[in-house]
Amino acid sequence: MLFDFAKIPHDQAYKLCVASVVPRPVAWVVSQDREGQVNAAPYSFFNVFSDNPVVVAIGCSQRAPGTPKDTLANIEATGQFVVNLVSAANADQMNITAVDFPAGVNEVTEAGLTTTPSTMVRVPRIAESPVALECEILQFVPTNGHTIVLGRVVAMHIDDDCVLDAAKFYVDTPKLDLVGRMHGRGWYARTTDRIEIPRIPLAEWEARKKA
Ligand SMILES: Cc1cc2nc3c(=O)[nH]c(=O)nc-3n(C[C@H](O)[C@H](O)[C@H](O)COP(=O)(O)O)c2cc1C
Repeated sequence: MLFDFAKIPHDQAYKLCVASVVPRPVAWVVSQDREGQVNAAPYSFFNVFSDNPVVVAIGCSQRAPGTPKDTLANIEATGQFVVNLVSAANADQMNITAVDFPAGVNEVTEAGLTTTPSTMVRVPRIAESPVALECEILQFVPTNGHTIVLGRVVAMHIDDDCVLDAAKFYVDTPKLDLVGRMHGRGWYARTTDRIEIPRIPLAEWEARKKA
């Protein structure tokens, strides 16, 4: 079935996208307002896109027409944020931080979580999260209703337990036990069901075709 986005209201296009572009990693974004009040919220319009510099993108919709969500307002105010990744152990707490709290409520405290200072940015990270990316704003890309936040990652924390070999930069990815967002408002996928598909060198592919 073809869906022509020129003819589809954006909220229906949203439904098609979030139900089929899955699983999506969840950026559990910590930000601060000018007074230092901490805010946390999950964003699954998220991924990492390059390595030099390391750039992440997050799609923030509006709280109401013309009113930004607190995360975007804070990043606009301070230019900094931290993307924490969500393990299965933290998934319920992540969901609490998505409650539509008014500005000024500390979602980290509401969810029974703690923060710990970051290294390169003033915004703290979530202590319970196994991975945290410290970010500075690179660019805001406004679209109709969304603002895509491009962040330059200046440092990354990974739980010591989940680093296999620091000298080789090897991470124990299964141990991170991260979740991804699936369809609808409440479905997630765990990363416990994995398959390995080794890359195929061209010579091997050609040999296989001749066999
Ligand atoms: C798993 C998950 C992913 C979400 N992803 C997004 C997203 O990509 N963009 C967005 O605008 N809101 C997203 N939301 C909704 C926000 O988290 C929610 O509106 C939150 O209250 C915003 O908080 P803030 O105003 O403190 O930034 C998501 C919610 C959940 C539970």
